[in-house]
Amino acid sequence: MGYVKFVFFMIYPFLRQLAFSSSLPHLCPQDQALALLQFKHMFTIDPDASDYCGHILTNQTIQSYPRTLLWNKSTNCCLWDGVHCDKMSGQVIELNLTCSRLQGKFHSNSSLFQLSNLKRLDLSFNDFTGSLISPKFGEFSSLTHLDLSDSSFTGLIPSEISHLSKLHVLRINGLNELSLGPHNFELLFKNLTQLRELNLDSVNISSTIPSNFSSHLTTLRLPYT
Ligand SMILES: *[C@@H]1O[C@H](CO)[C@@H](O)[C@H](O)[C@H]1NC(C)=O
Ligand SMILES: *[C@@H]1O[C@H](CO)[C@@H](O)[C@H](O)[C@H]1NC(C)=O
Ligand SMILES: *[C@@H]1O[C@H](CO)[C@@H](O)[C@H](O)[C@H]1NC(C)=O
Ligand SMILES: *[C@@H]1O[C@H](CO)[C@@H](O)[C@H](O)[C@H]1NC(C)=O
Ligand SMILES: *[C@@H]1O[C@H](CO)[C@@H](O)[C@H](O)[C@H]1NC(C)=O
Ligand SMILES: *[C@@H]1O[C@H](CO)[C@@H](O)[C@H](O)[C@H]1NC(C)=O
Ligand SMILES: *[C@@H]1O[C@H](CO)[C@@H](O)[C@H](O)[C@H]1NC(C)=O
Repeated sequence: MGYVKFVFFMIYPFLRQLAFSSSLPHLCPQDQALALLQFKHMFTIDPDASDYCGHILTNQTIQSYPRTLLWNKSTNCCLWDGVHCDKMSGQVIELNLTCSRLQGKFHSNSSLFQLSNLKRLDLSFNDFTGSLISPKFGEFSSLTHLDLSDSSFTGLIPSEISHLSKLHVLRINGLNELSLGPHNFELLFKNLTQLRELNLDSVNISSTIPSNFSSHLTTLRLPYT
Protein backbone atom coordinates (compact mmCIF):
# COMPACT_ATOMS: atom_id res chain seq x y z
CA MET A 1 0.00 0.00 0.00
CA GLY A 2 2.70 2.42 1.08
CA TYR A 3 4.60 1.70 -2.09
CA VAL A 4 1.56 2.42 -4.33
CA LYS A 5 1.01 5.67 -2.48
CA PHE A 6 4.65 6.59 -2.97
CA VAL A 7 4.48 5.92 -6.72
CA PHE A 8 1.33 7.99 -6.95
CA PHE A 9 3.02 10.96 -5.34
CA MET A 10 5.98 10.49 -7.65
CA ILE A 11 3.84 10.70 -10.80
CA TYR A 12 1.21 13.13 -9.48
CA PRO A 13 3.05 16.27 -10.70
CA PHE A 14 3.26 14.77 -14.18
CA LEU A 15 -0.44 13.87 -14.19
CA ARG A 16 -1.22 17.40 -13.10
CA GLN A 17 0.95 18.86 -15.79
CA LEU A 18 -0.75 16.67 -18.35
CA ALA A 19 -4.23 17.68 -17.22
CA PHE A 20 -3.46 21.37 -17.27
CA SER A 21 -1.27 21.36 -20.34
CA SER A 22 -2.28 24.21 -22.59
CA SER A 23 -1.91 22.00 -25.63
CA LEU A 24 -4.99 20.10 -24.52
CA PRO A 25 -8.11 21.89 -25.73
CA HIS A 26 -10.82 22.54 -23.21
CA LEU A 27 -13.93 20.46 -23.39
CA CYS A 28 -16.77 22.69 -24.52
CA PRO A 29 -19.46 23.34 -21.88
CA GLN A 30 -22.46 21.19 -22.80
CA ASP A 31 -25.02 24.00 -22.63
CA GLN A 32 -22.93 26.21 -24.89
CA ALA A 33 -22.45 23.44 -27.45
CA LEU A 34 -26.22 22.97 -27.45
CA ALA A 35 -26.84 26.71 -27.88
CA LEU A 36 -24.44 26.77 -30.83
CA LEU A 37 -26.09 23.78 -32.48
CA GLN A 38 -29.54 25.36 -32.03
CA PHE A 39 -28.15 28.53 -33.59
CA LYS A 40 -26.78 26.54 -36.52
CA HIS A 41 -30.17 24.95 -37.15
CA MET A 42 -31.95 28.33 -37.26
CA PHE A 43 -30.34 28.98 -40.64
CA THR A 44 -29.94 27.34 -43.99
CA ILE A 45 -26.77 27.44 -46.03
CA ASP A 46 -27.19 29.74 -49.04
CA PRO A 47 -26.02 27.80 -52.11
CA ASP A 48 -26.08 31.00 -54.20
CA ALA A 49 -23.85 33.08 -51.93
CA SER A 50 -20.90 34.64 -53.70
CA ASP A 51 -17.56 32.89 -53.38
CA TYR A 52 -15.85 35.85 -51.76
CA CYS A 53 -16.82 38.54 -49.27
CA GLY A 54 -15.15 41.89 -49.49
CA HIS A 55 -13.97 43.98 -46.58
CA ILE A 56 -14.01 47.45 -48.12
CA LEU A 57 -12.18 48.96 -45.17
CA THR A 58 -9.18 46.67 -45.27
CA ASN A 59 -9.44 45.75 -48.96
CA GLN A 60 -9.32 42.16 -47.77
CA THR A 61 -11.41 39.43 -49.33
CA ILE A 62 -12.47 36.33 -47.46
CA GLN A 63 -13.44 33.09 -49.09
CA SER A 64 -17.02 32.19 -48.34
CA TYR A 65 -17.78 28.74 -46.98
CA PRO A 66 -20.26 27.30 -44.50
CA ARG A 67 -18.29 27.33 -41.26
CA THR A 68 -21.13 25.71 -39.32
CA LEU A 69 -21.50 22.75 -41.67
CA LEU A 70 -19.35 20.28 -39.71
CA TRP A 71 -20.45 21.39 -36.25
CA ASN A 72 -21.82 18.28 -34.56
CA LYS A 73 -22.52 16.77 -31.17
CA SER A 74 -19.79 14.16 -31.38
CA THR A 75 -16.99 16.71 -31.35
CA ASN A 76 -15.71 19.26 -28.83
CA CYS A 77 -17.25 22.62 -29.73
CA CYS A 78 -14.03 24.41 -28.77
CA LEU A 79 -12.60 22.83 -31.94
CA TRP A 80 -15.44 23.86 -34.24
CA ASP A 81 -14.72 26.22 -37.07
CA GLY A 82 -15.26 29.82 -35.94
CA VAL A 83 -15.52 28.94 -32.23
CA HIS A 84 -12.88 29.76 -29.61
CA CYS A 85 -12.93 28.91 -25.93
CA ASP A 86 -11.11 30.64 -23.11
CA LYS A 87 -7.90 28.80 -22.21
CA MET A 88 -8.53 29.12 -18.48
CA SER A 89 -12.31 28.92 -18.03
CA GLY A 90 -13.22 26.85 -21.09
CA GLN A 91 -16.16 29.15 -21.87
CA VAL A 92 -16.94 30.06 -25.48
CA ILE A 93 -15.56 33.58 -25.84
CA GLU A 94 -15.34 34.04 -29.57
CA LEU A 95 -17.69 33.27 -32.43
CA ASN A 96 -16.60 34.25 -35.90
CA LEU A 97 -19.07 33.29 -38.61
CA THR A 98 -18.12 35.94 -41.11
CA CYS A 99 -18.90 35.05 -44.71
CA SER A 100 -20.46 31.71 -43.74
CA ARG A 101 -23.40 31.64 -46.16
CA LEU A 102 -25.93 31.68 -43.32
CA GLN A 103 -29.41 32.55 -44.49
CA GLY A 104 -32.56 33.07 -42.44
CA LYS A 105 -34.31 35.21 -39.86
CA PHE A 106 -32.40 36.19 -36.76
CA HIS A 107 -34.91 36.22 -33.88
CA SER A 108 -34.70 37.72 -30.40
CA ASN A 109 -35.18 34.23 -28.95
CA SER A 110 -31.99 33.03 -30.63
CA SER A 111 -29.92 30.62 -28.54
CA LEU A 112 -26.90 32.77 -29.41
CA PHE A 113 -27.84 35.08 -26.55
CA GLN A 114 -27.08 32.27 -24.09
CA LEU A 115 -23.38 32.65 -24.88
CA SER A 116 -23.01 35.38 -22.31
CA ASN A 117 -19.21 35.22 -22.12
CA LEU A 118 -18.58 36.23 -25.73
CA LYS A 119 -15.81 38.77 -26.22
CA ARG A 120 -15.71 38.73 -29.99
CA LEU A 121 -18.72 38.21 -32.22
CA ASP A 122 -18.52 38.46 -35.99
CA LEU A 123 -21.65 37.72 -38.02
CA SER A 124 -20.72 39.87 -41.00
CA PHE A 125 -21.44 38.92 -44.61
CA ASN A 126 -24.35 36.57 -44.08
CA ASP A 127 -27.96 36.95 -45.17
CA PHE A 128 -30.33 37.74 -42.32
CA THR A 129 -32.67 39.73 -44.59
CA GLY A 130 -35.64 41.16 -42.74
CA SER A 131 -34.12 40.62 -39.28
CA LEU A 132 -33.97 43.34 -36.68
CA ILE A 133 -30.92 43.84 -34.49
CA SER A 134 -32.24 42.47 -31.21
CA PRO A 135 -31.93 44.63 -28.08
CA LYS A 136 -30.44 41.48 -26.54
CA PHE A 137 -27.13 42.24 -28.27
CA GLY A 138 -26.80 44.77 -25.44
CA GLU A 139 -26.56 41.88 -22.96
CA PHE A 140 -23.18 40.69 -24.24
CA SER A 141 -21.48 42.79 -21.61
CA SER A 142 -17.99 41.36 -22.23
CA LEU A 143 -17.91 42.14 -25.94
CA THR A 144 -14.85 43.96 -27.24
CA HIS A 145 -15.56 43.28 -30.94
CA LEU A 146 -18.97 43.27 -32.62
CA ASP A 147 -19.36 43.03 -36.37
CA LEU A 148 -22.87 42.86 -37.82
CA SER A 149 -22.02 44.50 -41.10
CA ASP A 150 -23.24 43.50 -44.54
CA SER A 151 -25.62 40.87 -43.20
CA SER A 152 -28.84 42.63 -44.24
CA PHE A 153 -30.08 43.54 -40.78
CA THR A 154 -32.84 46.16 -41.01
CA GLY A 155 -34.58 48.72 -38.85
CA LEU A 156 -33.44 50.63 -35.80
CA ILE A 157 -30.14 50.06 -34.09
CA PRO A 158 -31.31 49.38 -30.52
CA SER A 159 -30.26 51.81 -27.83
CA GLU A 160 -29.13 48.81 -25.72
CA ILE A 161 -25.93 48.91 -27.80
CA SER A 162 -24.91 51.63 -25.35
CA HIS A 163 -24.53 48.98 -22.63
CA LEU A 164 -21.52 47.48 -24.39
CA SER A 165 -19.04 49.65 -22.60
CA LYS A 166 -16.04 47.39 -23.34
CA LEU A 167 -16.37 47.60 -27.11
CA HIS A 168 -13.20 48.39 -29.04
CA VAL A 169 -14.61 47.70 -32.48
CA LEU A 170 -18.19 48.18 -33.62
CA ARG A 171 -19.20 47.64 -37.22
CA ILE A 172 -22.86 47.81 -38.19
CA ASN A 173 -22.79 49.12 -41.71
CA GLY A 174 -25.66 48.11 -43.94
CA LEU A 175 -27.23 49.19 -47.18
CA ASN A 176 -29.48 52.08 -46.16
CA GLU A 177 -31.66 49.59 -44.32
CA LEU A 178 -30.53 50.56 -40.85
CA SER A 179 -31.06 53.72 -38.91
CA LEU A 180 -30.22 55.19 -35.54
CA GLY A 181 -33.79 56.44 -35.42
CA PRO A 182 -34.55 59.04 -32.81
CA HIS A 183 -31.65 57.93 -30.63
CA ASN A 184 -29.23 60.67 -29.85
CA PHE A 185 -25.83 59.80 -31.24
CA GLU A 186 -23.96 61.28 -28.32
CA LEU A 187 -26.06 59.53 -25.67
CA LEU A 188 -25.74 56.26 -27.53
CA PHE A 189 -21.97 56.28 -27.83
CA LYS A 190 -20.70 58.30 -24.89
CA ASN A 191 -20.72 55.14 -22.74
CA LEU A 192 -18.48 53.32 -25.21
CA THR A 193 -15.31 54.93 -23.97
CA GLN A 194 -13.01 52.18 -25.28
CA LEU A 195 -14.09 52.46 -28.92
CA ARG A 196 -11.21 52.47 -31.39
CA GLU A 197 -13.17 51.71 -34.51
CA LEU A 198 -16.72 52.69 -35.30
CA ASN A 199 -18.19 51.87 -38.67
CA LEU A 200 -21.76 52.99 -39.30
CA ASP A 201 -21.32 53.41 -43.02
CA SER A 202 -24.71 53.80 -44.74
CA VAL A 203 -26.65 53.88 -41.48
CA ASN A 204 -29.22 56.68 -41.42
CA ILE A 205 -28.29 59.05 -38.63
CA SER A 206 -30.51 62.05 -38.02
CA SER A 207 -28.97 63.53 -34.87
CA THR A 208 -25.83 65.62 -34.91
CA ILE A 209 -22.50 63.95 -34.34
CA PRO A 210 -20.17 65.60 -31.83
CA SER A 211 -16.60 65.84 -33.05
CA ASN A 212 -15.07 64.77 -29.76
CA PHE A 213 -17.22 61.87 -28.61
CA SER A 214 -14.48 59.31 -28.09
CA SER A 215 -10.85 59.88 -27.29
CA HIS A 216 -9.53 56.47 -28.39
CA LEU A 217 -11.11 56.47 -31.82
CA THR A 218 -8.69 55.79 -34.66
CA THR A 219 -11.15 54.70 -37.36
CA LEU A 220 -14.49 56.31 -37.96
CA ARG A 221 -16.73 55.68 -40.91
CA LEU A 222 -20.05 57.42 -41.06
CA PRO A 223 -22.40 58.00 -43.95
CA TYR A 224 -22.14 61.14 -46.02
CA THR A 225 -24.78 63.62 -44.99
C1 LIG B 1 -7.45 46.84 -53.28
O1 LIG B 1 -7.30 45.64 -54.03
C2 LIG B 1 -7.31 45.84 -55.45
C3 LIG B 1 -7.31 44.48 -56.14
O2 LIG B 1 -6.36 43.63 -55.57
C4 LIG B 1 -6.12 46.72 -55.85
O3 LIG B 1 -6.13 46.97 -57.24
C5 LIG B 1 -6.22 48.06 -55.10
O4 LIG B 1 -5.08 48.84 -55.37
C6 LIG B 1 -6.32 47.84 -53.59
N1 LIG B 1 -6.58 49.10 -52.90
C7 LIG B 1 -5.97 49.48 -51.77
C8 LIG B 1 -6.38 50.78 -51.19
O5 LIG B 1 -5.12 48.78 -51.23
C1 LIG C 1 -18.42 15.96 -37.10
O1 LIG C 1 -17.27 16.79 -36.97
C2 LIG C 1 -16.06 16.18 -37.40
C3 LIG C 1 -14.93 17.15 -37.08
O2 LIG C 1 -15.15 18.40 -37.65
C4 LIG C 1 -16.14 15.85 -38.88
O3 LIG C 1 -14.96 15.22 -39.30
C5 LIG C 1 -17.34 14.96 -39.13
O4 LIG C 1 -17.48 14.76 -40.52
C6 LIG C 1 -18.60 15.58 -38.59
N1 LIG C 1 -19.73 14.68 -38.74
C7 LIG C 1 -20.87 15.09 -39.31
C8 LIG C 1 -21.96 14.06 -39.36
O5 LIG C 1 -21.04 16.19 -39.77
C1 LIG D 1 -38.53 32.29 -32.02
O1 LIG D 1 -39.35 33.37 -32.44
C2 LIG D 1 -39.88 33.21 -33.74
C3 LIG D 1 -40.63 34.48 -34.12
O2 LIG D 1 -41.32 35.02 -33.06
C4 LIG D 1 -40.78 31.97 -33.78
O3 LIG D 1 -41.29 31.77 -35.09
C5 LIG D 1 -39.95 30.75 -33.37
O4 LIG D 1 -40.78 29.61 -33.31
C6 LIG D 1 -39.29 30.98 -32.03
N1 LIG D 1 -38.39 29.87 -31.78
C7 LIG D 1 -38.31 29.28 -30.60
C8 LIG D 1 -37.33 28.17 -30.49
O5 LIG D 1 -38.99 29.63 -29.64
C1 LIG E 1 -13.23 36.93 -38.29
O1 LIG E 1 -12.46 36.19 -39.23
C2 LIG E 1 -12.04 36.97 -40.32
C3 LIG E 1 -11.37 36.03 -41.33
O2 LIG E 1 -10.52 35.16 -40.73
C4 LIG E 1 -11.10 38.08 -39.82
O3 LIG E 1 -10.68 38.88 -40.88
C5 LIG E 1 -11.88 38.93 -38.81
O4 LIG E 1 -11.03 39.91 -38.25
C6 LIG E 1 -12.44 38.07 -37.69
N1 LIG E 1 -13.33 38.87 -36.84
C7 LIG E 1 -13.07 39.15 -35.55
C8 LIG E 1 -14.08 39.99 -34.84
O5 LIG E 1 -12.09 38.74 -34.97
C1 LIG F 1 -23.10 52.20 -19.55
O1 LIG F 1 -22.45 50.95 -19.35
C2 LIG F 1 -22.78 50.30 -18.12
C3 LIG F 1 -22.01 49.00 -18.08
O2 LIG F 1 -20.64 49.26 -18.04
C4 LIG F 1 -24.27 50.02 -18.06
O3 LIG F 1 -24.59 49.46 -16.80
C5 LIG F 1 -25.04 51.33 -18.25
O4 LIG F 1 -26.42 51.04 -18.31
C6 LIG F 1 -24.61 52.00 -19.54
N1 LIG F 1 -25.28 53.29 -19.70
C7 LIG F 1 -26.08 53.56 -20.73
C8 LIG F 1 -26.63 54.94 -20.79
O5 LIG F 1 -26.35 52.73 -21.56
C1 LIG G 1 -32.42 55.62 -44.95
O1 LIG G 1 -32.35 56.70 -45.85
C2 LIG G 1 -32.58 56.31 -47.21
C3 LIG G 1 -32.32 57.52 -48.09
O2 LIG G 1 -32.89 58.67 -47.54
C4 LIG G 1 -34.01 55.78 -47.34
O3 LIG G 1 -34.26 55.38 -48.65
C5 LIG G 1 -34.17 54.59 -46.39
O4 LIG G 1 -35.53 54.15 -46.41
C6 LIG G 1 -33.80 54.95 -44.97
N1 LIG G 1 -33.81 53.75 -44.17
C7 LIG G 1 -34.31 53.68 -42.93
C8 LIG G 1 -34.26 52.35 -42.25
O5 LIG G 1 -34.77 54.64 -42.36
C1 LIG H 1 -17.04 67.40 -26.05
O1 LIG H 1 -17.03 68.79 -26.01
C2 LIG H 1 -18.13 69.35 -25.30
C3 LIG H 1 -18.09 70.88 -25.48
O2 LIG H 1 -16.78 71.35 -25.48
C4 LIG H 1 -18.05 68.93 -23.82
O3 LIG H 1 -19.12 69.47 -23.11
C5 LIG H 1 -18.10 67.42 -23.76
O4 LIG H 1 -17.93 66.99 -22.43
C6 LIG H 1 -16.99 66.80 -24.64
N1 LIG H 1 -17.18 65.35 -24.67
C7 LIG H 1 -16.17 64.48 -24.55
C8 LIG H 1 -16.51 63.03 -24.63
O5 LIG H 1 -15.02 64.84 -24.37
